[in-house]
Amino acid sequence: MKDRESGMKEDRIKQKATTMVDVLLLVLLSLLCCGLERAAAQVPIPPRIDGFVYGADPPVWGKSVVVEAFFDPVCPDSRDSWPPLKKALRHYSHRLSLVVHTFALPYHSNAFIASRALHIANRLNSSSTYPLLELFFKFQEKYYNRPTYNLTRASIVDDISRLATKVVGKDSLSSFLSGFNATETDSATRISFKYGCSRAVTGTPFFFVNGIPLAVSGPVPDYKAWRDIIDPLVAKQS
Ligand SMILES: *[C@@H]1O[C@H](CO)[C@@H](O)[C@H](O)[C@H]1NC(C)=O
Ligand SMILES: *[C@@H]1O[C@H](CO)[C@@H](O)[C@H](O)[C@H]1NC(C)=O
Ligand SMILES: *[C@@H]1O[C@H](CO)[C@@H](O)[C@H](O)[C@H]1NC(C)=O
Repeated sequence: MKDRESGMKEDRIKQKATTMVDVLLLVLLSLLCCGLERAAAQVPIPPRIDGFVYGADPPVWGKSVVVEAFFDPVCPDSRDSWPPLKKALRHYSHRLSLVVHTFALPYHSNAFIASRALHIANRLNSSSTYPLLELFFKFQEKYYNRPTYNLTRASIVDDISRLATKVVGKDSLSSFLSGFNATETDSATRISFKYGCSRAVTGTPFFFVNGIPLAVSGPVPDYKAWRDIIDPLVAKQS
């Protein structure tokens, strides 16, 4: 009797143990599968590396300090960070290069349209990319969430396209509007965003200096902050 009872108990314990092993295996398997799925979700690789190069000369690998800026064209902090960075670019000239990536923040209703406009401008007339970025910085308040709350997407696209023709070229309105219908400009804007995500960009402006993320204290780096960061790097290069 006692033997039978303890035998049954043993069986139950064994059963419990097998169930636990099963559960563990399932958990392990599902973890593995999720991992595999994640590895399979390849971010589309663009034909050319993302970003708008400032100025006529592209950065020469290893020859200049490279600042990468992730900007949302309708973000006030991105706007405020631009004048001191531009001043630094003038100061350092060819010793400093800038590449801007668009990063459309989801809580800015018109950020994706504005970012896409930059990609369209870059395709139609690459010299107009930065002038358009500056136009966005100048007039961005018009495109904030509240003043555009009752506007249709079509009217915002139209308005932004008209703004863009000021710098892209006066006969560019229809090609600019068709740019908003082209899938390449949509995917280019998505890739900029995914690229930012892959580099753990969490807001704008977000800067990398020679590939290293910049931890900025305060709202945005001012001119002095840029000098403090870049002066020692330039000194070590020469
Ligand atoms: C949007 O339109 C509604 C209805 O016409 C109006 O009551 C509201 O004030 C408008 N909102 C804004 C932000 O303009
Ligand atoms: C391209 O853009 C630049 C900068 O806005 C402008 O000066 C130039 O006239 C534009 N080119 C054409 C062909 O319109
Ligand atoms: C863009 O697509 C929409 C909807 O398909 C169409 O109504 C519009 O005419 C197109 N615009 C241009 C400029 O091609």
